[in-house]
Amino acid sequence: MKTALITGITGQDGTYLAEYLLQLGYKVYGLIRGQNNPKREWVERLLPDVELVHGDLLDQASLIAALEYTKPDEVYNLAAVSFVPLSWNQAELTGEVTGLGVLRMLEAIRIVGGSGRRNGQRVNPIRFYQASSSEMFGKVRETPQNERTPFHPRSPYGVAKVYGHYITVNYRESYDIYACSGILFNHESPRRGPEFVTRKISMGVARIKLGKQRELVLGNLDARRDWGFAGDYVKAMHLMLQQPEPDDYVVGTGESHSVREFAELAFAYVGLDWRDYVRTDPRFMRPAEVDHLLADATKARTVLGWRPTVSFRELVEMMVEADLRLEREKAARGLG
Ligand code: NAP
Ligand code: GDD
Repeated sequence: MKTALITGITGQDGTYLAEYLLQLGYKVYGLIRGQNNPKREWVERLLPDVELVHGDLLDQASLIAALEYTKPDEVYNLAAVSFVPLSWNQAELTGEVTGLGVLRMLEAIRIVGGSGRRNGQRVNPIRFYQASSSEMFGKVRETPQNERTPFHPRSPYGVAKVYGHYITVNYRESYDIYACSGILFNHESPRRGPEFVTRKISMGVARIKLGKQRELVLGNLDARRDWGFAGDYVKAMHLMLQQPEPDDYVVGTGESHSVREFAELAFAYVGLDWRDYVRTDPRFMRPAEVDHLLADATKARTVLGWRPTVSFRELVEMMVEADLRLEREKAARGLG
């Protein structure tokens, strides 16, 4: 039985990855931070088989202790300050967690597991996955983007992710650590945080349909993203760590759509015209925008055999359907 340690266990990807690894027979540990994490109870209910261990990407010693206790074969570093607008307000914290946090985990792995080769074999037994991001491509130099496309990040978050990416490559090259960077394009699900645009739309549509909300206020409707389903993307993370040699991979669907198209489909699904409900407000515009992301995931397809299974329309409908269910349940319990 293999053992995995997941940071970011309370996040969208952490829960899907944990479910997937449990299905494969892994012993799964999740790193949880804070004295009284508000999501702890939710995670314990959703993932009763995951053992939670305390730790924080800001605290080097806690990461070493977590590795010593869990003795993982695989570490998935999903924890981050991940909401792009927040990264302008808390740029320093974003650099500390999303950037230097990766270094702290890699250092912990090096200290606990060793480095270099003995008799031609890698000394360190731990395999490491870093959650890199298409946000690193930012003001894109070419379309579509692949593993060789240069980075031009447009937010403190993107800059921190570029550091996380290169320090992962550097620890692989410097210390012979099995470290992979997955450059994942946007992936969504009913578990997506409500601050991200897809979930904001699916929740808004459900609430408007049920008469709980009158309008939906958004920012840049022209931004285009390569949106896939998170449940598919965690399988790519796992596949990366099963290869004979560590490497970096772009993961996405190869199809992009605008925020406007997402809203149009979501409203149409419940029989409404988006133009009657959506208003834009400069409040939700960004100081520097990423206009268009589109993945060339040829390498993930050919080397890993990875393919997305959920289409854009299916994703939109899955999210609206889930939020309709949630809002009806809340209403039935008198919670608004
Ligand atoms: P998410 O839902 O925002 O989850 C972020 C996680 O990070 C939460 O569990 C949070 O825990 C944890 N965290 C924050 N600060 C921490 C700290 N100092 N120490 C330990 N844990 C901390 O993110 P996601 O959508 O699942 O994404 C997972 C990873 O993939 C992130 O690194 C994200 O940047 C990256 N990524 C995501 C996408 C996407 O489209 N979803 C695409 C590319 C890359 P708390 O509950 O304690 O706050
Ligand atoms: N959040 C939000 N809210 N975004 C809006 C809104 C709004 O009201 N209106 C328009 N948008 C536009 C944003 O300007 C952006 O161009 C696009 O919708 C997507 O925004 P988000 O859903 O917040 O995601 P993101 O692309 O900035 O970042 C996500 O994907 C990255 C991968 O490319 C996050 O999950 C990052 O952590 C991840 O790395």
